[in-house]
Amino acid sequence: MRRAARVEESSLEPFIDRLRDSVWRPLQDAITAPVPRIGELPHLDVTTERDDTAGDAGLWRDRLWALAQAATAQRAALPEPAIAEAAAALQDMALHLAADSSDALQERLARLAELQADLAPEIRVVNNGPYLVTNVRGVSNWLGEPLPTRPQLALCRCGASATKPLCDGSHARIGFTSRRDPSASLTNSTPTWASR
Ligand code: FES
Repeated sequence: MRRAARVEESSLEPFIDRLRDSVWRPLQDAITAPVPRIGELPHLDVTTERDDTAGDAGLWRDRLWALAQAATAQRAALPEPAIAEAAAALQDMALHLAADSSDALQERLARLAELQADLAPEIRVVNNGPYLVTNVRGVSNWLGEPLPTRPQLALCRCGASATKPLCDGSHARIGFTSRRDPSASLTNSTPTWASR
């Protein structure tokens, strides 16, 4: 097992709100809706290596990686926007925590791409939520500058995210509705993407 770099607990702090707003919130909404949009979930076979030398923060990193794989496998199995939104946040966090090693980052990207390889490239606009961008080759901002690409992306449409261009769940907090989509009038600030 390749030993990962030690993770500083402070590096995990920004993820606490994001786990609540971008992972827990959409999944809870889908499960507790009057007509639940997520039924029985398929069995998952996701494993992760545990590095006991990495401390408590390392344990969180390993769990986030396991969660990212699980959510990605679910996203590939179910066409439910809430799962895609949660998978996008978990993929970004898990990849961010691997960014200290180019090899680890590439390994994780390849694993996530493999898990959702059967999904067609797609851009979906979520009602009252983000753009879900799936399996695209590249994403760039309105200046043409490349942005970090993940197999599943959720891009902010409400303008309130603290992690722009990525959605951080703020659209739910501010009560964003699709009728107030800033990209409808500010098209030159919207990211662009290329399909694979
Ligand atoms: S659409 Fe989610 S934070 Fe803007």
